[in-house]
Amino acid sequence: MDRLRLGINVDHVATLRNARGGANPDPLRAALLVAEAGGDGITAHLREDRRHITDRDVERLAAEAGLPLNLEMAATAEMVGIASRLRPHACCLVPEHRAERTTESGLDVARLMDELAPVVGALGERGIRVSLFVDPDPRQLDAAARVKAPVVELHTGTYCGAEGEARARELARLEAAARHAAGLGLEVHAGHGLDYATVAAVAALPPVRELNIGHFLIGEAIFEGFVPAVREMRRLMDGARRGGA
Ligand code: PXP
Repeated sequence: MDRLRLGINVDHVATLRNARGGANPDPLRAALLVAEAGGDGITAHLREDRRHITDRDVERLAAEAGLPLNLEMAATAEMVGIASRLRPHACCLVPEHRAERTTESGLDVARLMDELAPVVGALGERGIRVSLFVDPDPRQLDAAARVKAPVVELHTGTYCGAEGEARARELARLEAAARHAAGLGLEVHAGHGLDYATVAAVAALPPVRELNIGHFLIGEAIFEGFVPAVREMRRLMDGARRGGA
């Protein structure tokens, strides 16, 4: 199977920095280590409340990280304006609720088609590759194809949070969704909540082309270092892709 791309989400370097204020630790410094560690891109979520990544962070990541930037954002006029100015490689549209601790569910594309279609179109016209973050639900994938998004990112959070048979059922849902999406001509990405224990099964799904991983790796970085943590994730992904584990 072809090599799976790995995007590293640096949001939680910023979470740690913002806990104290000031400049350290710097998400750009993490981003500058990603290529050496075996990652292919940088992911950062500019939330409406700027709770971790700031406007200045995305500007620096876009200009200085030296890798493709995948800007996660809500489908708002403000964010479309920022993306249009910065022209990241990709934008991943996510739902956003102020009270949530992280992105808890996928976008309800089926309900929001009228709002999302012009945003997908506007970003696409600026040469930005648009992905929609969705639950592994065929109805949402059909809607993603109808609004002409080129990419979907499957939400792996429920799979990662489940155990035993429930996890196996969630993996089967992800596999079916990945096939369904590829059948619709969508490029398939996946992410949220992945760790060393959960990554291989998702990496082994042939239609999946890219994983975006953050929180677990930033945690591991405290104990193992950032580069070794990303390298280990890369090793597990590559092993799964080759048919090992
Ligand atoms: N993909 C999307 C769309 C996300 O919102 C997030 C979390 O910001 C991730 C991937 C990465 O998830 P995690 O930090 O749990 O690895």
